[in-house]
Amino acid sequence: MPRNKVTLDNAQKSKNDEFFTQYEDVEREINAYIDYDANVFKDKTILCPCDDDFESSFTRYFAQNFEKLGLKKLICTSYAYESKGEDFEYRIPKNELNSPKYDASKTRTHGKVLIIDRDKNHSGRIDINDIDWNYLEKDGDFRSDEVIKLRNEADFIITNPPFSLFRQFIMWIIEAQKKFIILGNQNAITYKEVYPLIKENKIWLGCRFNERVNGKNLTYRVPNTYKMKASELYVAKNGEKYITVPGTGWFTNVDHGKRHQPLSLMTEADNIKFSKHKEVKGQGYKKYDNYDAIDIPFVDAIPSDYFGYMGVPITFLGKYCPEQFEIITFRKGNDGKDLSINGKTMYFRIIIRKK
Ligand SMILES: C[S@@+](CC[C@H](N)C(=O)[O-])C[C@H]1O[C@@H](n2cnc3c(N)ncnc32)[C@H](O)[C@@H]1O
Repeated sequence: MPRNKVTLDNAQKSKNDEFFTQYEDVEREINAYIDYDANVFKDKTILCPCDDDFESSFTRYFAQNFEKLGLKKLICTSYAYESKGEDFEYRIPKNELNSPKYDASKTRTHGKVLIIDRDKNHSGRIDINDIDWNYLEKDGDFRSDEVIKLRNEADFIITNPPFSLFRQFIMWIIEAQKKFIILGNQNAITYKEVYPLIKENKIWLGCRFNERVNGKNLTYRVPNTYKMKASELYVAKNGEKYITVPGTGWFTNVDHGKRHQPLSLMTEADNIKFSKHKEVKGQGYKKYDNYDAIDIPFVDAIPSDYFGYMGVPITFLGKYCPEQFEIITFRKGNDGKDLSINGKTMYFRIIIRKK
């Protein structure tokens, strides 16, 4: 997609929740779970609870692949425009506007629910043309009783939720013990609600996390009226705006193959001799002041033959293979303070040990 790079300086006080996932990013991620288990979604109900109208890539992907995945039911709900509290123009989706169910008094204030569970139009195929939709009673907040009821019915929750409510959103899934595949920011790993679950291998990172594909980090469409401070914002030929956001990726509790690929590593002696990192080459590894572990400043500098505790950067989680390493603890030393070396605090280290 040819784009002109623009720089944005008009930062606005915004929750920045209106980031729309691209179809190919949904497809690429879901393929990783199907590659690992072809029947992972067979006879299952998927809920996409933050998925705008007929336009969400999640809605379109699961609708178009309904039969291929063997789904039982797809439910997508959207959040009312007036509840969003964000400054962008409202476009009534064509499918809604052209439907006999269209209600001008509800379109801005009510959430919507879209359901596919049968060949409604008798075309011989279940796809996006079989959507049945209605206005919700309320605004479609995922915390509302009516969306909670839909959550309880679902086997999988799959979406890109509002980043500003990520903490609440993931707890909303965990409390209902549902399978999920959701997009989020790397910072979420550091939430006190999230990292204990990662340590216990109850949740992990998805296939793509903070990773460049074709030279780019995950890129989202944003409303055309969006103003925000961003270093990487692009305008496509058709005028649509896209933003590249480093540090985002998928969180899940659904298994995928990448998670079981062990890291290929050098021995401690070879790292000290050959490491590409000047902090390691000829230097070796430093010990923390407040924990009996060595600090490994880069994931590719983890020594293959060290069996004691090691502190690694947060990016380790993108390469974490539970058969190769175990996670011992996060961030804090024995004194309850952040891990430090010669008094200097290290940013969110994860203490691991080779299995
Ligand atoms: C990051 S966007 C992603 C949209 C869509 N899932 C996608 O990936 O293209 C998050 C969406 O959640 C909606 N949202 C914000 N607060 C919400 C809430 N309390 N309940 C449900 N949806 C909400 C936003 O309006 C926005 O459309």
